[in-house]
Amino acid sequence: MKIISVVGARPNFMKVAPLHRAIEKAKQNGAASKNLEHYICHTGQHYDEKMSKIFFEDLELPRPDFYLGVGSGTHAEQTGKIMIEFEKILLKEKPDYVLVVGDVNSTIACTLTAAKLHIKTIHVEAGLRSNDRKMPEEINRVLTDSISDLLFITEKSGLENLKREGVPDEKIHFVGNVMIDSVAYYLKKAESSKILDELGITAGNYVLVTLHRPSNVDNPEQIKKIMEMLYRLSERRKIVFPIHPRTRKNLMKFGLLDFLSQSVILTDPLGYIDFLNLTKNAELILTDSGGIQEESTYLGVQCITLRDTTERPVTVEVGTNQLLGNNLKLAEKAANEVLDGNKKEGKIPELWDGHAAERIVNVLLSLEKETK
Ligand code: UD1
Repeated sequence: MKIISVVGARPNFMKVAPLHRAIEKAKQNGAASKNLEHYICHTGQHYDEKMSKIFFEDLELPRPDFYLGVGSGTHAEQTGKIMIEFEKILLKEKPDYVLVVGDVNSTIACTLTAAKLHIKTIHVEAGLRSNDRKMPEEINRVLTDSISDLLFITEKSGLENLKREGVPDEKIHFVGNVMIDSVAYYLKKAESSKILDELGITAGNYVLVTLHRPSNVDNPEQIKKIMEMLYRLSERRKIVFPIHPRTRKNLMKFGLLDFLSQSVILTDPLGYIDFLNLTKNAELILTDSGGIQEESTYLGVQCITLRDTTERPVTVEVGTNQLLGNNLKLAEKAANEVLDGNKKEGKIPELWDGHAAERIVNVLLSLEKETK
């Protein structure tokens, strides 16, 4: 059985790393046959060293077997280029399965390419829905799920969403969260990171910020309001803000970068290990990321999400996440409350135990028997 797993953008790498490790382990201990071949294809959607290469090093991922080098572009350009290049690989390699993770443009592009060639597709982190079709990721999620053959879900909301959309039960497997597998696995390594010293901050005493959603950073008024909020919060705590390339471009375009650099510790995008250390030790996180809502919930760290919707409701229902939307007044009030010591209690969601990849591989091994 031959599987090609796809990575493209930063949040994909830490999802494929535990799968790669679990497949290798199954081959070594004889659970999987030597004929199980696993290859990694990197589309090149993210290509900066700090958005891609550093993750391969931190996560001990092998060099990708295939690199498509597509780079940036409009949605149609990026999706189209990935499809054209990926089709060539599929025609040559003829895999039995294509495995995709998450909700980025590489996810839908590769799923669609494979489905049209009648190659079976596996979606890991399926079923999440923000119900906001203005988010490009939501379109990617809905379309990917509708044409995938196997759907692995991270939380129960995924089950309800997929059932509502008419997906048959036998395609769906509730296995937990591979992103959390990586947090659990690399936490020890992250503890040896020197990033706090390098930035001159102490554990439990700073606010960590990440922003890159078009709804927050492409709109000059919204991004300005967020920066003003950060300025006010910086009077209470040190603020660390690793800046995504898209956000940096916009901060420069709107003339906000100099203003911000006077009050906030700005860094380039960080590697996985340093960022995990920063997440674990933060007093509060302000973010619009999907994955950080989950990582903070697992680590019991206070998180305020600057979005109106979340596709990961379990982080709000069970975890430490508060969804306060684009209403920045509410978000700022909540941030100040956390800094006053009023913390939201949270629990770790069901099956977020570091073993999701093993459960997925067990399902794949049952497929291997079928393909024999
Ligand atoms: C993508 C994903 C988003 C994910 C995010 C994580 C889609 C639709 N979006 O958003 O879901 O949360 O990755 O980071 O797939 N750029 C660089 N260097 C890079 C990559 C991008 O400078 O290595 C710049 C380019 O100017 C590019 C812009 O960032 O146009 C946006 O990149 P793109 O891949 O289109 O989307 P992201 O905003 O990164």
